[in-house]
Amino acid sequence: MQIVKDAIELKKLRASLNGSVGFVPTMGALHEGHISLIKKARAENDFVIVSIFVNPTQFLEGEDLDKYPRKDEADIKICELAGVDIIFMPTIDSVYNEDELSITAPKIRGFILEGAKRPGHFDGVLQIVMKLFNITDATNAYFGKKDAQQLALITQMTKDYFLNVNIVPCEIVRDSRGIALSSRNTYLSEGEYERALSLSRSLKLASDMVAKSELDSSKIKVAMEDLLTKSVDKLDYVAIVDREFRELDKVEIGNSIILVAAFVGNTRLIDNIWV
Ligand code: PAF
Repeated sequence: MQIVKDAIELKKLRASLNGSVGFVPTMGALHEGHISLIKKARAENDFVIVSIFVNPTQFLEGEDLDKYPRKDEADIKICELAGVDIIFMPTIDSVYNEDELSITAPKIRGFILEGAKRPGHFDGVLQIVMKLFNITDATNAYFGKKDAQQLALITQMTKDYFLNVNIVPCEIVRDSRGIALSSRNTYLSEGEYERALSLSRSLKLASDMVAKSELDSSKIKVAMEDLLTKSVDKLDYVAIVDREFRELDKVEIGNSIILVAAFVGNTRLIDNIWV
């Protein structure tokens, strides 16, 4: 396994690889969710590249950029065990220039839900992901469904900019009690963890309602909000959208995503189910 810190060096190395490249972009602090993406990439490609980069441009003023968990040593071990060929760990200067061109998220889909709560976040995500796609020239890129809106926007970017990379959506990985794995879960105290379970419980409630043929979005959202407001400190949103992120009055089976975002303590958590 090679660790590369410079973008141009990685571009050269990539050009010398003869075969398909599976790419897993991450911000490090790797957990089972990332490992499942890496395993899928390993199974489906000749080479696997993982990037580890806490991208400053996707953090808003006052967010957790400075305290975002950094676990380089453990991450490198995890990648080695998972059969990664190359880890890309760039410095900020290696990937960003002064006064550079920027990509902006689409005006509607990029500025609802996460985009409304975190304005500018998706511009930063798309900017870095575009760079990473160009540096790695990936054949397949693996993204978790947990960041559903991010996944939708990156998929749109590949279409709008005629990129060659194939986006592979991957299932959410949960712990034994149902919490969707996230690097930010490490911020939760024991008591907060118990209360954070309400996110996945509210989604289970929604899926039970849908299973009993309740498709009315407003009824499902009210039931979820009732459950959530008893446990979380601040509910950012509950939403029901189609796979293109258009709000739905009625759940469309096979084409809907039910999403929740909430603060437990100071930690902002998101979760969703695809129905
Ligand atoms: O999902 C993430 O971890 C990040 O948003 C990504 C895609 C690695 C871009 O920094």
